[in-house]
Amino acid sequence: MNGERYAQITGWGMAVPEKVLTNADLARVVDTSDEWILSRTGIRERHIVASEKESTATLALRTARAALLVADVAPTQLDLVIVATATPEYAFPSTASLVQDALGAANAGAFDLSAGCSGFIYALSLASNVIRGGGAEHVLVIGAETLSRITDWTDRNTCVLFGDGAGAVVVSARPERCGVLASVLGSDGSGGDLLILPAGGSHAPASHETISNGGHFVKMNGREVFRFATTVIPKATEAVIQKAGWVLTDLALVIPHQANNRIIESAARRLNLPLDRFFINLDRYGNTSSASIPIALCEAIAEGRVKAGDRLVLVGFGAGLTWAAAAVEWGVPVPVKPQPWPRRWLALLRFGLAAVRSLWLRGGRRVYNWLLGPVGKDDWRGKLRQWMGRWWKK
Ligand code: UT7
Repeated sequence: MNGERYAQITGWGMAVPEKVLTNADLARVVDTSDEWILSRTGIRERHIVASEKESTATLALRTARAALLVADVAPTQLDLVIVATATPEYAFPSTASLVQDALGAANAGAFDLSAGCSGFIYALSLASNVIRGGGAEHVLVIGAETLSRITDWTDRNTCVLFGDGAGAVVVSARPERCGVLASVLGSDGSGGDLLILPAGGSHAPASHETISNGGHFVKMNGREVFRFATTVIPKATEAVIQKAGWVLTDLALVIPHQANNRIIESAARRLNLPLDRFFINLDRYGNTSSASIPIALCEAIAEGRVKAGDRLVLVGFGAGLTWAAAAVEWGVPVPVKPQPWPRRWLALLRFGLAAVRSLWLRGGRRVYNWLLGPVGKDDWRGKLRQWMGRWWKK
């Protein structure tokens, strides 16, 4: 590809756990009510993982497969997998590496990105810059969370807010001027204590004390975060449209982080934009942190609110404190024409083969280690001879 390169969103997908937790369900376990939650936040229900088989990585994988199918990109074509998450599968290895393996994305680098609820836009911005700089052709960007796993179900200040879910996009190099045209990223670490998971890291490793203090649950100063959010969303939106060379009236849709209806209403007022220019779906999912914007994008597309040529702003804020916005000129015609069934079948076969590849790699490593023993300590031929000898005598 010669000349200017752009980073277009060519595929998208979302996944939420099946189990729905309504406000009425929560009112049975903490001192709250449907009326309070709905009027103060706009949330009616949220999805949460219900079994040990569901986790951040399984949600991320489901959404990654969906996005690849839409983009018609094979996992082996991916150059990079980025998972934005505050609730990774483990501290390490990265959730992104687990997804890379499960997808069979054999040519991709992979890493997790931690920027709170702004994480997805941070990752999108990074993907776009790597592509535009010529360092990648296809990047998979995922926002995935299981916040229910770090929620204190006795703390009404936080437990009514969060939900689990994942959303992903495939970002691909294109010669036409479209896709992610500008982004702004920001951070104010002086507000780090306002939204925090206090224990489990280097500062306070897991101990009996951190467990009995509830240090492994999310803690938030809601009022302070609210104040921060209402100033930063309009500021970041204005900054990114200026960077893209647009004006506010160009915007077809703003897709904000889905934390609270009142934050979005305040942003609309400050920007002097009608509220219907903002996409809102937090009533059904709650705040899914870094997954909220890609989930909202998927639903906006499914509802016909995004068309080729539309100018969109995606804008988020969250723990850090961080904020981020991306100006996206939509370039893909929607709805996407479904692929012919042999291509779809081939894509599904590839997903199946990726599982076999992963098992093969794990199994191969075990056999190799068993045969050779610890590197440099044993003579592998001797071991093999011994084993063959024992087997022969039987
Ligand atoms: O993804 C980014 C992270 N998070 C956010 O964006 C959250 C930003 N903040 C918010 O959305 C809002 O601050 C909350 C929804 C968290 C809280 O709404 P608020 O209007 O700021 O309420 P508040 O914290 O000022 O509390 C008002 C009252 C308090 O009672 P008193 O002290 O006035 O008697 C709380 O104890 O509401 C009480 N309260 C509740 N009552 C019933 C707090 N949580 C609940 C609850 N049910 N779940």
